[in-house]
Amino acid sequence: MKERVAILGATGYSGRELVERVLSHAHLELKAAACRNDAGKRLDQVMPGAPPQPLIELNQIELDRVDTVFLCLPHGASAQWAERALQANCRVIDLSADFRLNDSALYRQVYGLEHPCPQRLAEAVYGLSELHRNEIPRHRLIANPGCYPTSILLGLAPLLRAGLLQGLVIADSKSGVSGAGRSAAVANLFGEVSDNVRPYQVGDKHRHRSEMLQQIQAYGGKSELLFVPQVVPCFRGMLSNLYVKLPDGDMAALYRDFYAKDPFVQVLEECATMAHTRGSNRCAISLHPLPDQGKLLIISSIDNLVKGAAGQALQNLNLALGLPESEGLL
Ligand SMILES: NC(=O)c1ccc[n+]([C@@H]2O[C@H](COP(=O)([O-])OP(=O)(O)OC[C@H]3O[C@@H](n4cnc5c(N)ncnc54)[C@H](OP(=O)(O)O)[C@@H]3O)[C@@H](O)[C@H]2O)c1
Repeated sequence: MKERVAILGATGYSGRELVERVLSHAHLELKAAACRNDAGKRLDQVMPGAPPQPLIELNQIELDRVDTVFLCLPHGASAQWAERALQANCRVIDLSADFRLNDSALYRQVYGLEHPCPQRLAEAVYGLSELHRNEIPRHRLIANPGCYPTSILLGLAPLLRAGLLQGLVIADSKSGVSGAGRSAAVANLFGEVSDNVRPYQVGDKHRHRSEMLQQIQAYGGKSELLFVPQVVPCFRGMLSNLYVKLPDGDMAALYRDFYAKDPFVQVLEECATMAHTRGSNRCAISLHPLPDQGKLLIISSIDNLVKGAAGQALQNLNLALGLPESEGLL
């Protein structure tokens, strides 16, 4: 029997990626693709080149006929649908930030709204697949990580787990404009993004910083994080340059061992670039010791819409169902 899946927010950038991958997945059946404004149309009429998937209104979804719900909605709206889907006994994989922070007061402070269902926060598992693959199958609510946190935490994880991450981490991260989603905003117009690199929410202002600090602390790290996100003139892709104190030892061997069994994380000899991961669920990492400066530079590349969103969400469902992690993702 195939797992029956619904995708809410199917007309967004990450929703579209999920529709394509769910439709070609051998063990999944796409029961419904829903959105707010384009119900009644097909997805290819809204997003050229997308599959001709019929779109329905969010309220038309019959949750009692669905096993897993992917939420590709803005935060706030996502939590409301998560509550409804959990009450209907569905598994929920939420791509928004609504269940990534484990503290409702911190959520209020970071996202500026009361959490719609704070009692659910303790039920969620943080869906960074490589670090939580054993816990994911035990949870009905999976909080897919943010795209910046995915690129940065995968870059830091071997050091963190070995207790070798010390002092300040400087994360200089570049994202394609699709990281901001499909809704209209002047800052995302072609004329603003092309021929430009735009740092934004520099320092401690970006919302993903709290998510990353919470995870660093959960793995026993005490590091501070200086985070400089930037929009670069491409549609998709993400690259993080991470500067940390240079630990003793063979870092390349540490990273290769740590990710030896992971189908999607590659530790490269050459410099990781956005091109290494574009359109794929891979994370490409390269390591660059800088002994004269006492630093290790870790470069981590993902596709924000795949490993940073839809691909990792599907990887998490594969884990939850006990399927090979890479099913439908290669
Ligand atoms: N883009 C990324 O790289 C990325 C990476 C990781 C996580 N995420 C997170 O994943 C979620 C989806 O991101 P996205 O970039 O795919 O977004 P998006 O392109 O802006 O699409 C959002 C989708 O949600 C619908 N929607 C918007 N506002 C809604 C509301 N108030 N109630 C119900 N539906 C609403 C939209 O439909 P209409 O157009 O019909 O309103 C659309 O289908 C967000 O929470 C985002 O933070 C995104």
